[in-house]
Amino acid sequence: MSFVTDFQNLEPGAFSTTWRSPSNIAFVKYWGKKGHQIPANPSLSMTLKNCFTETRVAFSPEGDGNVELFLEGEKSEKFALKIKKYLDTLDEVPLLKKVGIKIETRNTFPHGTGIASSASGLSAFALGLTDYLYHLKGKSEASDFFQCASHFSRLASGSACRSVYGGFTTWGECHLPKTSDLFATEFKVHDDLSDLLDSIIVVSSEEKAVSSTAGHGQMSKHFFAEARFEQARENFQLMVKALTSGDIELMGKVLESEALSLHAMMLSSSDPYILMRPQTLLGIEKIWKMRRETGLPLYFTLDAGPNLHLIYPRQIEKEVKGFIETDLKPISEKVIHDEVGMGPIRC
Ligand code: PMV
Repeated sequence: MSFVTDFQNLEPGAFSTTWRSPSNIAFVKYWGKKGHQIPANPSLSMTLKNCFTETRVAFSPEGDGNVELFLEGEKSEKFALKIKKYLDTLDEVPLLKKVGIKIETRNTFPHGTGIASSASGLSAFALGLTDYLYHLKGKSEASDFFQCASHFSRLASGSACRSVYGGFTTWGECHLPKTSDLFATEFKVHDDLSDLLDSIIVVSSEEKAVSSTAGHGQMSKHFFAEARFEQARENFQLMVKALTSGDIELMGKVLESEALSLHAMMLSSSDPYILMRPQTLLGIEKIWKMRRETGLPLYFTLDAGPNLHLIYPRQIEKEVKGFIETDLKPISEKVIHDEVGMGPIRC
């Protein structure tokens, strides 16, 4: 890609920038990769609005690649090391070995609540990095800015590459135009499905026992890997059809199939594990019962964790909030209400 080789001969300068970047929830899951951060199948997600990370990044011309990171005002050696390791992989930007970087970051949602803080956190940082590189190149209004930010986000955390656009986003080469394994692309949905809500039922905020990185790794030797990638490709096509035609029933069917297949991969891996909790299953049964009895288009999905994301159109907000209050609040630690967001902003 031209914009990557473009950064080879840049000289460091001083610069600071602040970005607010949202999390996203996958409707079709990325679970398993080929080589370095290349997805085994295309994925599709909804960008959130209220769950975001705000990150200020300051670059100084001297610093020998040193990274300092403050999370909610507290110095974090652990996260600084993660960013340092990531930057060490970016051979296409040699100046990163010379500069000093100070990162101040905060999330609007609690860590470990099943909302992908890596998607918002790493996309916010990658946007800051891209801003710096484009500033040094004098390309501040470039049309490929977000594509480049998506590329740098992907190299930090796959799902983060989908957070750089608002609305709905796909990532991974597929039948749609302008798609790529290297960056995400905006995806236009039918008007009837453009105002979906996501109520997150946090049944447990405990740190998960097995990381997503380990989960992706297990897929490389999973007995069902090829079948799962084929299913994901088929579900992707069905989800595209549902979202572009406004078919909410088909959307919900595929959404739940994807959530349960993701967890089925964990259950059936050679080193099996369970991230769902008893309340997760109880919640699913209650959602299915409510749908059977009322016919309302309320569906769920799961990330790599125990918490339920309830996906539904704004038109049934009152009914769903009533159901959450009576049926799901008693089995959860907290509920976070979110909706489709517009994507990142420079603050
Ligand atoms: O981006 P990673 O490496 O944290 O993987 C994310 C995987 C899922 O959140 C489970 C699915 C997805 O597509 O977001």
